[in-house]
Amino acid sequence: MAYALKRTAHCGQLDSRHVGEDVVLNGWVNSCRHLGGLVFIDLRDREGMTQVVINPGEQPALAGKAKEIREEFVIGVKGVVRARPAAMVNPAMPTGDIELDVRELVIFNRAEPMPFHLEDPTVSEDLRLKYRYLDMRRSKLGPNLRLRHRLAKITRDYFDEEGFIEVETPVLSKSTPEGARDYLVPSRVHPGKFYALPQAPQQYKQLLMVGGVEKYFQIARCFRDEDLRADRQPEFTQIDVEMSFIDQEDIIRLIEGLLARIMKDVKGLDIDTPFPRLTHAEAMSRFGSDKPDLRFGMELKDVSAIVADSAFGVFSGTVAAGGVVKGMNATAQGGASRKQIDAWTDVAKLFGAKGLAWVKVDAEGTLSGGVAKFLSEEEKAAIAAALDANPGDLLLFVADQAAVANAALGRLRCDIAAAADMTPENMFTFLWVVEFPLLDYDEDEKRFVSVHHPFTSPLAADADKLTTSPGEVRAQAYDVVLNGMELGGGSIRIHDPDVQRRMFSVLGISPAEARGQFGHLLDALAFGAPPHGGVALGFDRLAMLLAGASSIRDVIAFPKTTKAACLMTDSPSPVAPRQLGELAIASTVVSEDTPLN
Ligand code: AMO
Ligand code: AMP
Repeated sequence: MAYALKRTAHCGQLDSRHVGEDVVLNGWVNSCRHLGGLVFIDLRDREGMTQVVINPGEQPALAGKAKEIREEFVIGVKGVVRARPAAMVNPAMPTGDIELDVRELVIFNRAEPMPFHLEDPTVSEDLRLKYRYLDMRRSKLGPNLRLRHRLAKITRDYFDEEGFIEVETPVLSKSTPEGARDYLVPSRVHPGKFYALPQAPQQYKQLLMVGGVEKYFQIARCFRDEDLRADRQPEFTQIDVEMSFIDQEDIIRLIEGLLARIMKDVKGLDIDTPFPRLTHAEAMSRFGSDKPDLRFGMELKDVSAIVADSAFGVFSGTVAAGGVVKGMNATAQGGASRKQIDAWTDVAKLFGAKGLAWVKVDAEGTLSGGVAKFLSEEEKAAIAAALDANPGDLLLFVADQAAVANAALGRLRCDIAAAADMTPENMFTFLWVVEFPLLDYDEDEKRFVSVHHPFTSPLAADADKLTTSPGEVRAQAYDVVLNGMELGGGSIRIHDPDVQRRMFSVLGISPAEARGQFGHLLDALAFGAPPHGGVALGFDRLAMLLAGASSIRDVIAFPKTTKAACLMTDSPSPVAPRQLGELAIASTVVSEDTPLN
């Protein structure tokens, strides 16, 4: 049997067309005001808010209960929709033309006083995370969860139409040495052995290709024990994709189609495809980043040739020593204070730069101030032309090895654009970065490591260099970037077991280790692996950018803090020694709240 006063309409649904109708609303008391003998309640449910009015003068039976009502009580009201008096119409509210004249009232549940006001922007995130289920009632998080749902729905429909099938892959999987740190799960049945939570379904999706699935996708949970930031969570979601008998162009076209559909359905925007592409080398050289934000200009320019013989030793000396001098027109920052330039210099130094040279462009278009006094007239004129200098501009320079100069200016480029409001909301600029390097030399480990992962195929033109000059090999790897954030990445895979073995050997993984860690994959490649490749998009990051949120925590129902803790459930938490015993684990750390048994 239905409960008393079961809802017949939602709080966001009613307007002047419903005047005169009998309606039952259920929801939470958003606010409650007692005015002139009347009780005005803004009643809220998922779909919106309706003003309901209790008049104890006309409905004496309701007087007692009406008096008890407080914020966040859960109530049911039955009444008649009526037009608000003209003076009380609220055009800011979708239901602002009407109100409900209450005839019956049920209090379903009372609520303790709230630990914080739901709409108070000053409340700390920690408190909101502790009471995440209350935080969720506020206006922002609810819509973000709906947006996430829409993204998942569009994604599933799209891949279904494209002939893909969604396959779930295990969460209890195997620890592998490459990549981030694993979350481990001890096995009770096999004492001393561990599962690992997947950092991505990478090996499984390749095995699905060997299994003939041909077109796989999954909205997949991934787990990485890495340092967290605003765009990283220890558990997160990927739109994971793998295809057989394809090349890089097929994957790029597929993902552009998905992203174009999402932008159209979610934002109503027609985005241009194909997306622009930059090689990794170009992206680093022109924007100082492998995920350049193309919403604004301020490209980095190489002025080494102009200053190679300069009297300014910082510049000419660097060029003579095999370095470069990179310049950037920070545009209309000519008014920047000394203090501001010092702060930017400190940022540049974080990237290893020895300094930050600058000149301003005065009203006549002449370079002045900063290092201008060290430069000849010809040098100044050539720099002004190269950096497209206009009156009021500020030009910044770093002289160093290319990697340092690019990284330092690349960061300043983003900082200055953000501070100068060059990153408008609702502008979505996609691009592909292609031809990533295959390997990177790790100075700490004194060996090459994969830039992407060890299953990534070298670019055919560079394959011969794999053993002779591994650092120069480019990969068939690509990232899709949105507004300066890495949205996703993928690669064409190695499908030849010999190439895969050579790859492990370049990575310093011995044949015995390769067998132990990746034996299943090597075996599978030996049984007829099709040419294949794939990609994974960060689902949370996509949701965050589309929601205009500044943290992925805002689009995740129950996120963890940057310390990987859940403040609501208080996890991670100690477990009873008995549980550890069952898992054959001896804990040397006993925290205060460890249960006794
Ligand atoms: P990759 O490691 O580049 O590739 O991950 C793909 C995308 O996942 C998102 N992402 C994250 N999002 C939130 N929190 C994190 N900690 C986090 N780490 C990654 C990013 C990233 O671009 N298996 C390969 C893909 C492939 O080769 O097909 C992979 O996982 O948006
Ligand atoms: P100095 O001649 O050392 O006093 O440096 C003059 C200016 O050049 C200062 O503003 C320094 O910050 C800057 N500078 C020094 N080294 C570098 C460098 N490698 N690249 C760019 N600017 C530098």
